[in-house]
Amino acid sequence: MTTYSFPENFMWGGATAANQLEGAYNEGGKGMNLADVMPGGKVRLGVIGNPGFDFKIDHEKYVYPNHTGIDFYHRYKEDIALFAEMGFKTYRMSIAWSRIFPQGTETEPNEEGLAFYDRVFDELKKYDIEPVVTLSHYEIPLYLITEYGGWRSREVIGFFERYATTLFNRYKNKVKYWLTFNEINGATHIPLLGLGFSPESEETRLQDSFQGLHHQFVASALAVKAAHEIIPESQVGCMLVYAPTYSFDSNPQNIMHALQEQRVFNNYCGDVHVRGAYPAFATRYFKENGISLDIQEGDLETIKDGTVDFISLSYYMSRTEKKEKTPEEVGQGNLIGGVKNPFLEASDWGWEIDPEGLRIALNQLYDRYQVPLFVVENGLGAYDKVEEDGSINDDYRIDYLRSHIAAMGEAIEDGVELMGYTPWGCIDLVSASTGEMSKRYGFIYVDKHDDGSGSFERSKKKSFHWYKNVIDTNGKEL
Ligand code: BG6
Repeated sequence: MTTYSFPENFMWGGATAANQLEGAYNEGGKGMNLADVMPGGKVRLGVIGNPGFDFKIDHEKYVYPNHTGIDFYHRYKEDIALFAEMGFKTYRMSIAWSRIFPQGTETEPNEEGLAFYDRVFDELKKYDIEPVVTLSHYEIPLYLITEYGGWRSREVIGFFERYATTLFNRYKNKVKYWLTFNEINGATHIPLLGLGFSPESEETRLQDSFQGLHHQFVASALAVKAAHEIIPESQVGCMLVYAPTYSFDSNPQNIMHALQEQRVFNNYCGDVHVRGAYPAFATRYFKENGISLDIQEGDLETIKDGTVDFISLSYYMSRTEKKEKTPEEVGQGNLIGGVKNPFLEASDWGWEIDPEGLRIALNQLYDRYQVPLFVVENGLGAYDKVEEDGSINDDYRIDYLRSHIAAMGEAIEDGVELMGYTPWGCIDLVSASTGEMSKRYGFIYVDKHDDGSGSFERSKKKSFHWYKNVIDTNGKEL
């Protein structure tokens, strides 16, 4: 196998999000957030809007595996020690907004919430693990949803700015790398998830979600500016779910359709974040889709002044498109549709496996923007079997990760500037789409099950030892 040369300071690590691992959903003065109330912890419900959703916790009807998560809130020391044993240089995590501002609207933060993350950062520091912190990962405070309509409202920009600046001031000596909105471009597909509202109908989905995105762009730019002022050495990235869009075949109609999907889904948010301006293709797209943005005075200047330092992305799969598709042809990707690609195998959850797509993604992004890239999510959700002797032989996960790391190695050879790699769910956690524990991504197994049972005991999978060696050899031995 080819040997790859990763940069000396390459940030190897792993990634998680607060709502999927912390648990302690009603401890430490935390307020309720979107993830807490989604039925069965299925954070990604409401694909085409769900205005009737009543945002109530119903213990009679549902199990909420994310309410206890994997109990990271109480076990973070043990988990960070395991990350350190694997040699992590970095750990991508998120802060639960409602731990800091329980409703989102307070003027003073919740000290208990701030102190929790202080403890986590101090523990990481003990092992020289650099935190990369997402400000907002699918868990807008519930009060902002029910009282303000989420990011539909401009007022949320100010609440977010206060939240972000509170974090920058508090953690200025502990956190240098920040990400603003997780998978921001997924918002038009599942508005409830990232934007905290369900459009009235399919007809208003695009208008509403592009307006919500405009508010997030302004908020992100304000956060970037504040981070640079408060923490001069900070680096702030945007976060995209990136799925390079292939045409199903060489029919020019399909190629144009794929290009248009590529622009609207993959490029639109990156263009605004990195170039600081709306892309040219947006004008026609808005016109043809009846979208008219309320852009207030100063917004475009704010966006221009708050461009990001790097792009972070999640990569799970590519997407294949054709203009006319039957329902049977539609695949079941992560947030995104597309049709089945005859050249690719899929995971047990129907997510197509395409390592070459990661090389393509990185090249596309670097060709377009020439800013450093950071793969902050990638991985295989799979069923794991605990053998009688307690071992977990997850060779399928090793194969998946090996091929994707090789693809990054190729992209680096191609000239792409890549900062690091934090595979998703480095420790098993609750799935965002299904609320399951059995959809596992981790190097570390957690004894917790879909029905909520389990001891929370941690154990090392075969991939734990494999990834440790990958880090030890800086990617030379895969
Ligand atoms: C990404 C999200 O889209 O995919 C994560 O940022 C999520 O929150 C991950 O967990 C994997 O998706 P799932 O549905 O398998 O948990």
